[in-house]
Order: sequence, then C-alpha cells, then structure tokens
Amino acid sequence: MATVSRAGNAAPPPAGGDHLLEVRDLTVSYGTPTHAVDRLDLEVGPGEAVALLGANGAGKSSTLLAVSGLVPATGSVRFDGRELLGRAPELIARAGIIQVPEGRRLFAALSTEENLIVGLQAGAGRDPLFTLDEVYDLFPQLPALRRRGAWTLSGGEQQMVAIGRALLAAPRLVLLDEPSLGLAPRVVQNLYAALRTIAAQVALVLVEQNIGLALDLCHRAYVLATGRVVAQGTHAELPSREELLRTYLAQ
Ligand SMILES: Nc1ncnc2c1ncn2[C@@H]1O[C@H](COP(=O)(O)OP(=O)(O)OP(=O)(O)O)[C@@H](O)[C@H]1O
Ligand SMILES: [Mg+2]
Repeated sequence: MATVSRAGNAAPPPAGGDHLLEVRDLTVSYGTPTHAVDRLDLEVGPGEAVALLGANGAGKSSTLLAVSGLVPATGSVRFDGRELLGRAPELIARAGIIQVPEGRRLFAALSTEENLIVGLQAGAGRDPLFTLDEVYDLFPQLPALRRRGAWTLSGGEQQMVAIGRALLAAPRLVLLDEPSLGLAPRVVQNLYAALRTIAAQVALVLVEQNIGLALDLCHRAYVLATGRVVAQGTHAELPSREELLRTYLAQ
C-alpha cells in the first residue's frame, strides 16, 4: 500500500521511472472528422494522483473510457508494463483499473450495501484495498443508508456509494470522472476529504472541472484541449489558474 502523503500541493510526487500506467499515442474516434482523443501521452506513477483538466468536450471522459477498454482506441495503454489496449473491459478491471464513471451508474434496484457488495465481488481474487467497514468509516453517512434503495439516494450519497464500490473492487488504479459534478459545495468538501484519504492509498486519475480542487489533491495535471495535451506538470509548473481558465478551460 502506498503511503505517499498528499497534504495539498506540498506533497512531493513519488519517484519517477517505473510507471504504473503509461499511455502512448492514444487516439479515440467516434466517426467524426476530429478525434475525441488525439495522440495523447500520459503517465501515472505508483501511488500518484494525476488530474485531467479541460473544457467540455476536450476528451477527458473518452480518455478514461479508452483506458478501461470501454471505447475503441488506438495507441498503447500499458499497466505494470503489460499492454491492455484492445483487451476486454472485464480483463482490464481484473488487472485492477477500476473506473467510477460520470453519472455514478449504480444499480438503482439494489440497496446501498448491495451496490457496495458488487464491488467486493468484482475484486475477488485480488488483494483487497478497503473492507466494507473501512468504506463505511470513510463515508460515515452510508451506514444509516445501507438498506435504502440506491434510487432513493441523493447525488452526493450516490457518488459515495460509487466510489465505495470502486474501492471494494481491489483497485490498483482508480479512474474518477467528475466526482463533484452537480453536488453542493459542502458535499463536495466532504467528498474531497475522503478522496484525500483514498489518494494516500491508491493511484488515481481524476477528471475534474474545478481546477482548485484537482490541483489540491493531485501531484500533477494534464490539460486537454480538443483531445490533445496542451499543458502538463505540477501546480507550480502549470500556468496560473486564471491563465488556464482563460486559455484552455473557457466553456
Ligand atoms: N459516444 C459518442 N459519440 C460521438 N461523439 C462523442 C461520443 N462521446 C463523446 N463524443 C465527442 O467526443 C469529444 C470528447 O468528448 P468527451 O466526453 O471525452 O469530453 P469530456 O472532456 O469528458 O467533456 P465533458 O467535460 O463535457 O464531460 C466531444 O467532441 C464529444 O462530443
Ligand atoms: Mg466527460
């Protein structure tokens, strides 16, 4: 288990060299004239938290979906040195790449706990990262909701269940697509407190529209525009928040 401290931007990135995830030349097309993801390179080190920033339509979700094998792509996605591009999503998840998709996608007819147990089942056979009790400790709102149908949960509660389910699936890399989307500021604050704990234990790729939140949590960020990396680096290396917003993230 990684023990890298992640107290804001002061946290040093883990030593480079051996990448956990190495994405090269990734290209995703949906049959339109422009590629959704266009020859993208990206790395995540062991225990590292990396943010993907970019305006709507920049290719952030497509990048995560391609890494998980959920959309066709060309290029290379190496995880622990093993090529995963073109493999079935189930095999990629079994390798330990677990995605929390945009929109959470819980099983509406199942209870909170049943949704969490889906994660446990998905992680069977790999070293567990979190137990069910640890997920309940991480999200203290959830124990009281364990028997409630997922369809009755608020957006924030659903997001916690979706993240909890991913943690129970014995992830080695968690891909999070806009976890704060549509949530009230106080809920986002609680969620990010939990993400800080999570980031201390497992490597993350975080897609986030809120630059401040992303850069506080992550060691490094990639800024995408029309499917390409247009800026990357640590908080200190990146252009200022205002410049990022003006140049790349204007909606
Ligand atoms: N299923 C699809 N079919 C056709 N085009 C798609 C599909 N999904 C995404 N696109 C297009 O691909 C491009 C990248 O979309 P993507 O969803 O990856 O961006 P994003 O950065 O996640 O945006 P957002 O911030 O709005 O979630 C956009 O031009 C989008 O319209
Ligand atoms: Mg998206």
